[in-house]
Amino acid sequence: MTRVVILISGAGSNMAALADSMTGAHPARPVLVVSNRPGAPGLDKAQARGIPTAVVDHTARAGDRAAFEADLTHVLEAAEPDLICFAGFMRILSAGFIERWQGRMLNIHPSLLPKYRGLDTHARALAAGDRWHGCSVHEVTADLDSGPVLGQARLEVRQGDTPESLAARVLRLEHRLYPTVLRRVAEGDRSLVTLG
Ligand code: GRF
Repeated sequence: MTRVVILISGAGSNMAALADSMTGAHPARPVLVVSNRPGAPGLDKAQARGIPTAVVDHTARAGDRAAFEADLTHVLEAAEPDLICFAGFMRILSAGFIERWQGRMLNIHPSLLPKYRGLDTHARALAAGDRWHGCSVHEVTADLDSGPVLGQARLEVRQGDTPESLAARVLRLEHRLYPTVLRRVAEGDRSLVTLG
């Protein structure tokens, strides 16, 4: 059984979609949900699903990234993950941390990478007048949002779309794309998935 740890910082809707997809013949199961924020609503969603949770509070380390990452590594090592899914996890991690887990980390990013790495992706796509927008699942590497893309889902930007309306539609795509890519990766297939 492929052991999956999911990292969150907020609502955890992607975590819930991933967790809910890992049933029956699916070769993976969620073994832990970790949040860097104690009050993250996603922790409630995980507990409601009977998934063990942990909090590694980055503010408790007063900006000491190395200490935060050491705490996070300790929690991860205890869970013995085969895969680590970043799902709305909003902390930048050092190259040293990434190297420790290289090849086992996936992230969902709300743009059609390599377009719009970083933040405010929906506003940037609107400002550029893009016809197409969407989300990407990629391997996490030391360069932010730059690892190999494993899946993409796209939608047409609509007249009158705002960053908020676009984010809501992209989020629904994320909930389809991420579980699809996770299952393929858990089955040993890292070929590109495209939806929409
Ligand atoms: C998603 O929009 C994802 O693309 C971005 O953060 C959001 C996470 O939402 N990285 P949730 O916590 O999974 O609901």
